[in-house]
Amino acid sequence: MIVCSCQHITDRDIHAAIDWMRASDPATMITPGRVYHALGKRADCGGCMPLFLSTMRANTNLAVPAELIGLRQRPQRKEHTA
Ligand code: FES
Repeated sequence: MIVCSCQHITDRDIHAAIDWMRASDPATMITPGRVYHALGKRADCGGCMPLFLSTMRANTNLAVPAELIGLRQRPQRKEHTA
């Protein structure tokens, strides 16, 4: 199925790119821009983005690696006692 008609990207292309990126680097963050880049293309009109994202979300390899979950939490401040 064609997902991006501007760049002729199919759902299979998206899944293949995600699988390749995850196999190449298990800790990588996979974004739509990186999928385009991996396919050697650039988004044009952006009209495909809702379908592009839902196609990405259907791939089990898209999940954030467990070791990276929670990295954005602020560290606890240490209280100084003097
Ligand atoms: S349809 Fe994908 S960028 Fe236009």
